[in-house]
Amino acid sequence: MPITLIHPTPDCGWAGQRLDGILNQALAGREVRILRSAGELDSLHGQKILLALPLGDTGVNLEYQRILARLRKEPGLLSGCVGGLIVDGASELYTKSTAAEGALALNQAGCALLGRPLVEATGSLANFTVQAGNLGCGLMEAYRAAAAGLAQRLESESFPRRNRPNILALHASSHHTSNTMALWGRVRERLEDRCSIQEIGLRNGTLSDCSGCPYTMCLHFGERGGCFYGGLMSEEVYPAVREADALVLLCPNYNDALSANLTAFINRLTALFRQTRFYNKAVFAIIVSGYSGGDILARQVVAAMNMNKSFYLPQNFALMETANSPGQALALPGIQTRLEAFAQNIRDTLLSQA
Ligand SMILES: Cc1cc2nc3c(=O)[nH]c(=O)nc-3n(C[C@H](O)[C@H](O)[C@H](O)COP(=O)(O)O)c2cc1C
Repeated sequence: MPITLIHPTPDCGWAGQRLDGILNQALAGREVRILRSAGELDSLHGQKILLALPLGDTGVNLEYQRILARLRKEPGLLSGCVGGLIVDGASELYTKSTAAEGALALNQAGCALLGRPLVEATGSLANFTVQAGNLGCGLMEAYRAAAAGLAQRLESESFPRRNRPNILALHASSHHTSNTMALWGRVRERLEDRCSIQEIGLRNGTLSDCSGCPYTMCLHFGERGGCFYGGLMSEEVYPAVREADALVLLCPNYNDALSANLTAFINRLTALFRQTRFYNKAVFAIIVSGYSGGDILARQVVAAMNMNKSFYLPQNFALMETANSPGQALALPGIQTRLEAFAQNIRDTLLSQA
């Protein structure tokens, strides 16, 4: 299948030069359809999408802003697509935040994302230092290799489906009062006939955050299936993640961020990630905010779990709702339809015959 390259024209010509060279090499010999402006985004269902963003030194690309507006306005624009991103900047800032924002917009428009879908190039390319060291090459060569590898994975990706998939739901809330748990309860009952479901509570005091051990020490514990701290994470959570075909993260908004317990879980996944990639595992999320800010948490999950930790991001991976007092989420207008659609999306993603 050809790759559809969404490649907005940069605000000034020089800002696109390095990325142009990278794309020429990564896509050489491939069938590519190139779209350079928001007005060209049509007939995109079921495509392999590569979003390539030249950001210059300001982190701004005005044509990309028009594309972002279309992605947000037209929920089914990219239905059935699978995508990846290359984001190239002239500064040390803005590349990751722009990538996470773009990835969420692609996903909400119906595009799934490969695990590790981002090739990021900061102005100095210093973010390629480790990869260049591993490959024994320079920073620019490492950038070229990463872009070529992404195009290759995009072409060949296929997410596995199962007869009876294993789902692991992770939460850190009180069952009795939590809106997030109430929504999950209704999703869970729509999945139980065809999926094996395990729930683990990461309640206060059960999980220490990552202690940031040196790389070799983390690798040493990881290879033995554990981590320096041991405890719930090594005994219950790592084995459950290994078994799972999909994670469902239950995310109340705490100060416009994932709760400390969920963040500790993601940080502690590093030891497991040292020995294995999670390309064949999907991540979903139910996100509830009392007032606003669900997209901030969704972006955090995309950046941490999909971009960094390599989980596959199915299309429309997150159910985002606003509800504050206990019981409010299940009384929201239209909530039953949205719960049904979210559960159906999990079934369509994971089941060999939905
Ligand atoms: C410590 C704490 C911080 C919170 N911070 C925010 C916030 O920044 N923005 C917001 O919209 N809601 C915030 N909330 C409200 C919750 O998101 C809200 O209660 C929602 O229903 C999800 O939580 P629940 O699943 O426990 O009900 C906060 C709640 C707590 C307990």
